[in-house]
Amino acid sequence: MRTILITGGAGFIGSHVVRLFVNKYRDYKIVNLDKLTYAGNLTNLRDIEHKPNYIFEKGDITDSNQIQKLFDKYKFDGVVHLAAESHVDRSISNPMEFIMTNIVGTVNLLNAARSIWKDDFNGKRFYHISTDEVYGSLGEEGKFLETTPYDPRSPYSASKASSDHLVRAYFHTFHLPVVISNCSNNYGPYQFPEKLVPLFIHNIRNNKPLPVYGKGENVRDWLYVEDHAKAIDLIFHNGREGETYNIGGNNEWQNIELIKKLIEIVDRKLGRSEGESLKLITYVKDRAGHDLRYAIDATKIKEELGWEPTVKFTEGFESTVDWYLENEEWLNNVTSGDYIKYYNEQYVKR
Ligand code: NAD
Ligand code: DAU
Repeated sequence: MRTILITGGAGFIGSHVVRLFVNKYRDYKIVNLDKLTYAGNLTNLRDIEHKPNYIFEKGDITDSNQIQKLFDKYKFDGVVHLAAESHVDRSISNPMEFIMTNIVGTVNLLNAARSIWKDDFNGKRFYHISTDEVYGSLGEEGKFLETTPYDPRSPYSASKASSDHLVRAYFHTFHLPVVISNCSNNYGPYQFPEKLVPLFIHNIRNNKPLPVYGKGENVRDWLYVEDHAKAIDLIFHNGREGETYNIGGNNEWQNIELIKKLIEIVDRKLGRSEGESLKLITYVKDRAGHDLRYAIDATKIKEELGWEPTVKFTEGFESTVDWYLENEEWLNNVTSGDYIKYYNEQYVKR
């Protein structure tokens, strides 16, 4: 039996990865380590929490003693590291949390892995999940390759870039068996409603303004979250040691076009007249340092590991809207308390 640590498993992408691993690998013990910040919710894992091969540990990756004890206790064979502060806007108002969790937290995990694996790396793997934002911002042409030089431009992306460099440094210096992936924007169930897609579904339903940053001309490459989880599974098991894999949806949308599509779907599902919620679009001050365009060239993972997105955008987007409309209770749970304070500071009191 292999014992695998998944960090950040109560978050958006992490919960899909935990679900996939717990259901698919009955002979693995899956330990989910999560601090349960505002972004982590155990309700995301209700359907698998009683499975015999699943264990939850509440903990903070910035606490090196706690992390070392956890590694001593479970003697993990592999690590899938997703825990992070993940929202760009929050990194602009509070960079330090990002430095601590994304950089210091990652190094604590690397050190703990080194200390229990010593120099016997047979069957061991440290997989670091990262973002396309480390590559910076594209103009109208071109796509990010694995060889594109890093050029992070927000505290979030700089903290992720820093952690990527440290993971590579542990590979080159200590031969730690690492692998890294850099993915584009994910959408799907269980995403915290500070991010564009769930926030806008929530606001359309409640007839609240839709705060479009700048002119809404920024471009993102959208991928259904379960396709990302499948790519993570493949890379964890079959990716080459020391390598980086880009993951993307080959699915670019200008924000304003994506928002109009969302309005069309939500209005239809709520029985409103076509275009009724277009009036909610409200152009607001742009995000500071807002990257214009991200786009991933995912040729390497396709050629080496045979991965391609399987969920068509039209279907994935429809089912995502259905999920948020049907799970109002989940949304209400995660949008109480701290979220209201965040929302007021980010959008109302400006
Ligand atoms: P998320 O914010 O939804 O979840 C992050 C999880 O990490 C939460 O459960 C939170 O409680 C936990 N966490 C935060 N700080 C912690 C700490 N100090 N100790 C332990 N746990 C802690 O994030 P997400 O969108 O699911 O992203 C997961 C990973 O994937 C991140 O590393 C992110 O950089 C990367 N990523 C995200 C996207 C995206 O579109 N969301 C795209 C590419 C890469
Ligand atoms: O590219 C991968 C990244 O995608 C991940 O690394 C991040 O963790 C994830 O949060 C996401 O970052 P973005 O900044 O692209 O996602 P967000 O949903 O915050 O914003 C998407 C776009 O929509 C971006 O151009 C900003 C814009 N936006 C966002 C919000 C929240 C708005 O116009 N208004 C908003 O209120």
